[in-house]
Amino acid sequence: MSERRKSIHGSWSGRLAFILAATGSAVGLGNIWKFPYIAGENGGGAFVLVYLACIAVIGIPIMMAEVLLGRRGRQSPINTMRTLAQEAGAHRLWTWLGAAGVLAGFLILSYYSVIAGWAMAYVFRSAAGTFSGATAEGIASIFEQLTGDPERLLAWHTLFMVMTMIVVGRGVRGGLEKAVRFLVPALFVLLIMLDGYALAGGAFDQGLRFLFTPDFSKITANGVLIAMGHAFFTLSLGMGAIMVYGSYLPERTSIAKTCITIGFLDTLVAMLAGMAIFPIVFVNGLEPGAGPGLIFQTLPIAFGHMPGGVVFGTLFFLLLVFAAWTSAISLIEPAVAWLVENKGVSRVYAAVYAGIATWGFGLLTILSFNNWSDFKPLSFISIFKDYTVFDLLDYLTANIMLPLGGLLIAVFSVWIMKRDDSLQELDMGDGPAYRLWYGLVRYVTPVAVLIVFLNVTGLIDFVGLFGLAEE
Ligand code: TRP
Repeated sequence: MSERRKSIHGSWSGRLAFILAATGSAVGLGNIWKFPYIAGENGGGAFVLVYLACIAVIGIPIMMAEVLLGRRGRQSPINTMRTLAQEAGAHRLWTWLGAAGVLAGFLILSYYSVIAGWAMAYVFRSAAGTFSGATAEGIASIFEQLTGDPERLLAWHTLFMVMTMIVVGRGVRGGLEKAVRFLVPALFVLLIMLDGYALAGGAFDQGLRFLFTPDFSKITANGVLIAMGHAFFTLSLGMGAIMVYGSYLPERTSIAKTCITIGFLDTLVAMLAGMAIFPIVFVNGLEPGAGPGLIFQTLPIAFGHMPGGVVFGTLFFLLLVFAAWTSAISLIEPAVAWLVENKGVSRVYAAVYAGIATWGFGLLTILSFNNWSDFKPLSFISIFKDYTVFDLLDYLTANIMLPLGGLLIAVFSVWIMKRDDSLQELDMGDGPAYRLWYGLVRYVTPVAVLIVFLNVTGLIDFVGLFGLAEE
């Protein structure tokens, strides 16, 4: 057995800590804010089915690949890729895969933080009783007032970035581990309560039908790509976040079991969120395809009318902020670890530099919701005709950079790295489980990602084949 590397950044206290941290990374705005609104925009059931298939067949196997690369390299994704490429006698260019991941994390966090800022603003709106008894129109105008005001958005975005820098500055064990231990379970409890409300409020079956009855005439080729991109986004894959978390993972933890657990919990949260939101959408005659404002325009209606809604609403948005917080940390950690390793700066400074750069870039997203809301830079391409700068950033990262990054991670772990090395790192014997993983990552994942890409560019046409909707 080769000599094991050690991480200079420390390690998780154990398997549970890793599960919580990785679940904290995976469960975030993606599950509660993004999943419902993109499912709504892409017609529901068929979209959800594609998404679930991508989680199982592409997401979980790639997550295992990321964790195993991270644990073997024990450094930031950039240096991990350099080391492992060297070890495998592969080209140095693989180092750039780590660098592209750092860039993707930076771009994602720049808008993620702005949306997390909305959730923060809603904690205070809710606590102040602003939603009590409000109508759907009243709630919509509260949302528009917030997003229409760039200064207010900037203030919340700034606060959220500062919170992120503080935790990341403190390191792997200090704070983060303890925080997720309480927050992840609390979020579950509140979501289940919201589902109870939705169940009692009527239209629950309409919500379920929307989410779980696949109608393939409602999903476009682009919708399939969005579903796949979201599988990467929601599991935090394709940019090195899970790789860097894996680099802090203790030696003898089962990677397969942990990744399945994380994938399951993450999916459960998304489903619970969808089942809480769509019944409220239908009962109130709202539009499922309302876009990024969807949860901010639906859930407050529920809070405004249920007993104890002020308390529950406040708690809910508070937990959403925490969920976003534990995700944001993982988006910036690869960059911070790299700065510490290569630039010789302390962790605190590394967090500040990376944080300030991200903060500045966030202005693009802030302006997309007000001053630039009519600015559609790529309107000459039909699928992008309504896309603001924020929409494009989201599309570029989630639907292009993450699947591409994930594809290359898959290729590296089974085509470049020696089979014996992944076998040793996964540590589950050379039985059917390992072979299933190997086959999925070696053949199924890359082919699936490529097909979805080609499909959307129109180079091959699955629209006719599967009866998908036309653009
Ligand atoms: N998975 C998180 C969510 O669903 C977002 C996130 C955190 C992420 N780290 C990531 C997305 C890394 C892509 C890559 O909200």
